[in-house]
Amino acid sequence: MCYSEIGKWVENMNVYQEWGFKQNPFETLALPANKTGVRLLVGREKELKKLSQRLDSSTKIATVEGLNGVGKTSLVNVLLYKRFSETANTNIGPLYIPCDTQFQITGATDPEDFKQKVLLAVAQSLLNCHGSLRAAPGMTKPMEQTALKRFLNSPQISQISAGIAALSAGFGQETNTGFGYEHSGFEKTVRSWLLELFPTSTSGGVVCTLDNLELLQTSDHARKVVEELRDTVFAIQGIRWVLCGSLGIVHGILGSPRLEGRLHKPISVEDLSDDFAAEIYQNRVKNFRTRLTAKLPLTQSNFIELFDIMRGNIRSVLNEADEFCIWFADNSEDIEDFKDETHFEQWLEEELTNTYTAVQTEIRPRAMEVFETACQFEVFSPSDCMSFGFETPSAMRPHIKSLEATGLLRSAIDDTDKRRKTIQVTSKGWKIRAYLDFFDPIDEF
Ligand SMILES: Nc1ncnc2c1ncn2[C@@H]1O[C@H](COP(=O)(O)OP(=O)(O)OP(=O)(O)O)[C@@H](O)[C@H]1O
Ligand SMILES: [Mg+2]
Repeated sequence: MCYSEIGKWVENMNVYQEWGFKQNPFETLALPANKTGVRLLVGREKELKKLSQRLDSSTKIATVEGLNGVGKTSLVNVLLYKRFSETANTNIGPLYIPCDTQFQITGATDPEDFKQKVLLAVAQSLLNCHGSLRAAPGMTKPMEQTALKRFLNSPQISQISAGIAALSAGFGQETNTGFGYEHSGFEKTVRSWLLELFPTSTSGGVVCTLDNLELLQTSDHARKVVEELRDTVFAIQGIRWVLCGSLGIVHGILGSPRLEGRLHKPISVEDLSDDFAAEIYQNRVKNFRTRLTAKLPLTQSNFIELFDIMRGNIRSVLNEADEFCIWFADNSEDIEDFKDETHFEQWLEEELTNTYTAVQTEIRPRAMEVFETACQFEVFSPSDCMSFGFETPSAMRPHIKSLEATGLLRSAIDDTDKRRKTIQVTSKGWKIRAYLDFFDPIDEF
């Protein structure tokens, strides 16, 4: 219960607030590009360093690859915020301004529209950031000529504000021929501003992320779209790019001769090791609690157990942690009911059993064998067919298809290089694996 703004005692529907937290500590959205993101990011020192070095070393496009939910977007967001705030505090080094918008493309994306969207978002991000930096004391008058100083003292700022204001009033209005009513006028101004702010390859830039390239479905398709962008948005001075994708898509793009020399080799983001599970849990509890007595029904050791079941896929772990907390709230009157771990064990058994029962009859014995081998690999490709007891990838294909249909495996289609097609075990698959490990009667013998 809590006291509402209109002065009545009401039932608080947010269980986490009732338990003493600002919000759900197991939120599955990517970590934001701010201080909270920095506080919550665990165990990515090597990847942060690699991404940082790629940004600094050339204007080539940095690429990040890893399975769904492993932490690619979070890594990029946190790195960009870190680099930006370091320069804002020290006034040294290239200035990287994270673009406020994260971009995605599908097969239907029109390159020209996309370019306009990017330019508008870039201009908007520069303005927002300019506003926030100017507000910081001591930031307005750096003594030396630096990227930051150039940015803060740029005379074009008001021109760009006017342009954005005009754009939001609508493109192509004949009544006013002033600045910003046409795409081309706006584009020219943004480009010249970027050139002034970031004149060389070492001055930094507005960093845009093209995320979730797997939305393009096949890496052949992704390659074509990225090739089209090569001479448009990827070639604008002062805009830097990071491409993110899962399931071998980024690797597929890298094979394009047209993109040769334009992309860095992907930074591979792998599942985090179990050693980090406790730290992830503790950071979240500390960051989101509003009082020291805050209490969750899910303990640190429960969280570590989920981490183990989900093989370190953070999004799956957070999702299951939240599912359990909601289940607890549904089934218990009070957090004080929580005394030991029996609730969690009961929920886990129910959850794993239900998942298994729902698919049990749909999986034939041979497909189950394939699934068990797939779990040993975690990620594999059709060319691993021999290890699964098949002579050829096509002999294995029907079993993979049926496991995909039941949601235990997921694969990306790579038209050009069949060997690189990536197949991964899903979170549902890991629950089945855990059911077999914990409760399968065969194991009792
Ligand atoms: N290093 C980390 N430490 C703590 N939490 C993390 C870390 N990386 C990611 N997370 C959390 O894991 C979840 C998934 O992260 P994120 O969205 O960045 O993954 P992703 O690889 O971009 O996923 P997708 O492929 O679906 O885009 C988020 O809830 C995020 O807060
Ligand atoms: Mg992502």
